[in-house]
Formats: sequence, C-alpha cells, structure tokens
Amino acid sequence: MIQLAENVSLRNLNTFGIEALARYYYFCTDPEQIPEIIAEWSQEEPLLIMGGGSNLLFTRNYEGLVLRIGFSGIKIVHNNKDYVIVEVAAGENWDDFVAWTVERNLGGVENLSLIPGTAGASPVQNIGAYGSEAANCIESVSFYSIGEKTTKTLPAQDCGFGYRTSIFKHQLAGDAVILSVRFRLSLRPVLNIEYKGLKEELQKYPEPGLRAVREAVIAIRRQKLPDPVLVGNAGSFFKNPVIAREDFTALKLTFPDIPSFPAGDGFVKLPAAWLIEKCGWKGYRKGDAGVHPHQPLVLVNYGKATGTEIYELAGAIQTSVYQTFGIKLEPEVRII
Ligand code: FAD
Ligand code: EPU
Repeated sequence: MIQLAENVSLRNLNTFGIEALARYYYFCTDPEQIPEIIAEWSQEEPLLIMGGGSNLLFTRNYEGLVLRIGFSGIKIVHNNKDYVIVEVAAGENWDDFVAWTVERNLGGVENLSLIPGTAGASPVQNIGAYGSEAANCIESVSFYSIGEKTTKTLPAQDCGFGYRTSIFKHQLAGDAVILSVRFRLSLRPVLNIEYKGLKEELQKYPEPGLRAVREAVIAIRRQKLPDPVLVGNAGSFFKNPVIAREDFTALKLTFPDIPSFPAGDGFVKLPAAWLIEKCGWKGYRKGDAGVHPHQPLVLVNYGKATGTEIYELAGAIQTSVYQTFGIKLEPEVRII
C-alpha cells in the first residue's frame, strides 16, 4: 500500500517558484513501485508525472496526483572500441549526468550542459542547446505504459523526435512514465562548436576538448539565462517559430533586419526573442511577473507572481507578436 501525501506545496518543486498545491503527491525513488502506484491510483483523476519542474507553469492547484520521479543511477550497458551505451535512470539530475560523461571523455551531450531537470524528461521535449539536441545520442527510451500496464522500450527512430517535440509530448503523453533513457556516447568525440558565440568563448580555454566545451557552454548560459535559484523561470517560455521560406521573404520586406536560421527544406526558424523584443517587451514588469531584461524569451517570477499572472503576460506577448508579425508563438513550457 503506497502512502500518498496530501495537499503538498509545489512551490519549491517548480523552477518558476509558483505556489500551487498537489491534492496528492508521491516522491518515487524506486521504479519497481510505478506499476503499483498506477494500479492503486483511480484513473478518473488526473496524474502529473514530474521531474525537476523546470518546464512547468502551474496556474492553479493540481486536483490529482503529482508523481515525482526520484530514482537515479547511471550505468554502462554496452561498449566497444567506438562508443558506449549508457543507461540513465529517469530521476537522475541531467547536468550531473552530463558532468559524468565529460569526466570520462564520452562525447555527445556536452553542449547540453547546465540544462536543469531530470534525464527522464530529456526525451519529452528533446532538450536542445548550442547546436545539439538529446535526440542526437538517444538510443532508446524505456517507459511504463499506463494503458497497457507493461514496460516498453522505444528505439530512438520511433520516438518522433523533432525541434522541442517527441511522441512523449503527443501520442504517449499521459500514458508513458519514462523509467530510463539509453544514450550512445562516442569514445572518439568530435566537438560541435559551430553555434554562434561558442567558438569565441572556447578561445579562452587553452585545451580544446569536452571539458572546455562544457565550461564554455556553462559560461555562456550563466551570462544569458537567469538562475532559477535567484529568479523564478522555466527557460524559454515559447518555442522559436518555424515558418515557410516564402512567408519569411514577405516579412523581410517590412522588417529587413529580421534574423533567421535555416530549418530544413523550405523553412526558416525565427528567434522568438527578437520578435518579443521588437514588440517592446524586453525588461517589462508588472507586479512580480516580468520579461527578462537580457533574454526576452524567458518570463520570470520576481517573487510572488501567481501562475495566472505569468500566463496572462504570456498571452499578452502572444497577442502583440501576432498583431505585429502575424506569427503565433507556441509555448514551450507545459501549462497546468
Ligand atoms: P518537468 O518540468 O518536471 O516536466 C516537463 C515535462 O516532462 C512534463 O510534461 C512532465 O510530465 C514530463 N516528464 C518529466 N519527467 C517524466 C518522466 N519520467 N516520464 C514521463 N514524462 C515526464 N530546455 C531545453 O531544451 N534547452 C535549454 O537550453 C533549456 N534551458 C533551460 C534553462 C533554464 C534556466 C530553465 C529553468 C529551463 C530550461 N530548459 C531548457 C527547460 C527544461 O530544463 C527542460 O525542458 C527539462 O528537460 C525539464 O526537465 P524536468 O525534469 O524539470 O521536467
Ligand atoms: N535575441 C534578441 N534579443 C535578445 C536575445 C536574443 O533579439 O535579447 C535574438 C538574437 O537574434 C539571437 C537569437 O535571438 O541571435 C537567439 O538567441 P539565443 O542564442 O539566446 O537563443 P534562443 O533562440 O533565444 C534557444 C533555445 C534555448 C537554448 C538556446 C541556446 C528555444 C525555444 N530556446 O534560445 O533553450 O538554450 O537557444 O541554444 O529554442 C529552453 O528551451 O528553455 C532554452 C533555454
């Protein structure tokens, strides 16, 4: 019999620092318990799987069960002369895992240094930064299927990975409780340092290598992004919009300085930060809800903002970006 806690404050469990109560709450430190918890839980009530709470915005109390994944562990399950396969338990801290790989000179996830949250959430939105994404080295994802009451493993090619998306955010949302993720890491790392600013930052490090890349990425992130310990936030609030090249050509007639990045055949990706800044939101603050003064894609809670205040601010930004550019910004953060 699993003992659920009741009316638990989630304030310290989400990086926005938003107050919300979980009607029921369980911190699970053993994957073997998952089937039992799910079996005991009435499926009429909502269930929220939670890792580090770094991509969530609570706009109200959660009237169901918050199941926080807390089992950790990293093990090498296969190796040969070129690569190793490492299995990481879902509750493992993501950046501790990245540090572990860099210490062993295993290449693949170093550009994803300092992203908050858990390894189990990494496939959900296919975390990405500095020209790399988790999908580049995910081998497979193991999860407990609530509907089928069984543990399953999906190879990476069946995970529907794309920019900030996967099958776990769509078809399998609400069904898959991710238990572990396998990564294929290279024993002969090739550095990926083409992202704007990374190469320049690396000049400061005398020895090129995984450690230097990790430190350079951390240094850039510390300059650009607010530390959630100091000011509540969930990283980029919106995704960067991807639009058809012909729409971009039309936009460029009105906004000749609009930046863009290639996004596959016939598409371009626009920096949402630029669109938001152009609409005058950078550094905006109302009460304790604001737009970060250095990175306008990041919405912040300066202290006592409610989830609704952040949500309303996000809506106002979406409206003004749509009125100015005809582009719909989609939230990256999961809004509860
Ligand atoms: P949570 O926020 O707890 O959950 C996120 C989603 O994943 C929810 O839908 C949840 O239900 C689901 N989920 C979590 N664990 C499981 C599981 N075991 N099984 C099934 N579903 C699960 N993201 C990037 O991609 N790139 C960045 O550069 C980046 N920078 C950030 C910087 C800051 C300062 C912050 C605060 C956030 C940043 N993020 C970034 C967003 C965030 O760190 C990632 O989305 C991260 O993967 C979320 O992990 P989490 O464990 O906190 O997940
Ligand atoms: N920009 C502005 N004004 C600003 C800041 C940026 O106009 O004040 C424009 C510039 O044109 C700049 C561009 O935005 O070149 C891109 O900025 P940045 O390199 O900071 O990256 P981003 O597109 O804002 C994305 C990810 C981040 C990831 C970084 C680094 C998304 C939604 N966000 O941000 O991920 O860390 O690139 O790769 O794709 C997250 O997902 O939570 C996250 C933080």
